[in-house]
Amino acid sequence: MKKNKIKLALTIVGLCLVFSCKDQEQKGNIESLDKDESTFNSEEDLYRPNFHFTPKVGWMNDPNGMFYYNGYYHLYYQHYPDGNKWGPMHWGHAFSTDMVEWKEQPIALFPDEMGYIFSGSAVVDLENTSGFGSGSQVPIIAMFTYHDPKKAEANRMDVESQAIAYSLDEGLTWTKYSENPVIENPGIRDFRDPKVFWSQDYEKWVMILAAHDMVMLYSSKDLKNWELLSEFGGDWNREIGTHGGVWECPDLFPVPVEGSEETKWVLLVSINPGGPNGGSATQYFIGDFDGTKFTMDKEFETVLKKGQDHWLDYGKDNYAGVSFSNVTSKDGGKFYMGWMSNWEYANEVPTETWRSAMTVAREIKVIKDGKSYRLASLPVDEIDYYKEVKYKKENIQINGKTVLINGEKANLSRAAINFIISDFKKNSFTFKLFNKLGDELSFGYNGTDNTYFIDRSKSGKTAFSETFSNKKSIGKQTSKGDKLTGTILLDKTSIELFFDEGSTVMTEIFFPNSPFETLSVETDSKELNLDLLEVNELKLK
Ligand code: FRU
Repeated sequence: MKKNKIKLALTIVGLCLVFSCKDQEQKGNIESLDKDESTFNSEEDLYRPNFHFTPKVGWMNDPNGMFYYNGYYHLYYQHYPDGNKWGPMHWGHAFSTDMVEWKEQPIALFPDEMGYIFSGSAVVDLENTSGFGSGSQVPIIAMFTYHDPKKAEANRMDVESQAIAYSLDEGLTWTKYSENPVIENPGIRDFRDPKVFWSQDYEKWVMILAAHDMVMLYSSKDLKNWELLSEFGGDWNREIGTHGGVWECPDLFPVPVEGSEETKWVLLVSINPGGPNGGSATQYFIGDFDGTKFTMDKEFETVLKKGQDHWLDYGKDNYAGVSFSNVTSKDGGKFYMGWMSNWEYANEVPTETWRSAMTVAREIKVIKDGKSYRLASLPVDEIDYYKEVKYKKENIQINGKTVLINGEKANLSRAAINFIISDFKKNSFTFKLFNKLGDELSFGYNGTDNTYFIDRSKSGKTAFSETFSNKKSIGKQTSKGDKLTGTILLDKTSIELFFDEGSTVMTEIFFPNSPFETLSVETDSKELNLDLLEVNELKLK
């Protein structure tokens, strides 16, 4: 008996050692990779972003389970750590105190015999409605999709179901619920990406997920038992929105309308393919939620039917983004991040060690537009903390081609540039970023049809995909004023353009053969004036 006890104790010690060694190993990996960064290889040097999150090693797609708690923002993400193309999905993990600087953590969720861990969300269960909490420890509950590759292979319908996991250490480690799945597949092949939120008004959890090319809403009191509430985008209103591809990664949240007492509900739905410039993109709908269903605002529906755009971002590289739970900005705006790639070429982009990055965190706002509404999004204020002004000039008269800034004045691979152009509506202009090797990225405004554009056809490595740069990407100019304000975020491999206070956003990636060093602007107009140009460098390590 005694012997057995000793044996048991030794086994436990042994197991603990094995696990802590494993821990050490994981930590060790991260630390040694940290050190490796000082001995840059060319890929690290040329393409590892300065201020966008990338996994140290391996494949990444959608952001998952983003939440805020106790001073930390958490980002989980679709991850295949053993390869640089999409594969068996895990949830990778990183956290941050400001949504700008992220620190990668050990993997949060591993695939198992029930399948791959597809996209989903996480909520802070403050009242312990789930009963997973113990003592004073607030449980965090993640809800994700199990995708069974064997069933997929066998062409079955019931490939995807919804499951939960809980964390009792603020999101660091997770235990999968023993009675998963919590929602069985109802006979719909694409049935995934649950996004959960707490409805204060109706005192219940509400979840929205994508079901082929519509969304379904469910509710629950305990995050374990779920009841179907309604659907949107299906049979009765299939003419609404874009249905060129499968709907994915929906999100539903309230946002105060800027400058008013009103609150509107925003429904985000990613679609692939069917984006305005090809491939993946995210559409939005604005309306109301009555505890059971989402109804589009009448005016919004009218303008949508007349063909008004409804894209969160017109660039080709912002997909599957959703909001952070348990936090809003001081004005009630929602924080958001997206995956900076496109399924058209995500698996082929020219990096080997890791593949793809996230967008910067943004704040989503609702603005009134006549009788209807629009979304606007801007980088979160937290990014301002890292800015150092390198160059500021007012009243720059543009004649033909004018060089605005070169690499000696500011590093254009870690820059936040603000500009203002008055009287711009009829005047076309083109900004160009270029290097000595002749690579260039152009972007700007076309006054003949009031559109913004990005052209990456000469931006460096483009041949990995036919659709990467065969067309300029176009985004509609929507604001009413005559003055254009713009923010340009430049990293080594990405540009994020926020025009008209974020009313038109364009996000794209690029792979120059050497860093872009010079920014110029050119126009045919005789009267184009840059009222302001302010170039900031972002001081992240
Ligand atoms: C969106 C998506 C999700 C799915 C995940 C799989 O990019 O297709 O619908 O959960 O990626 O990795």
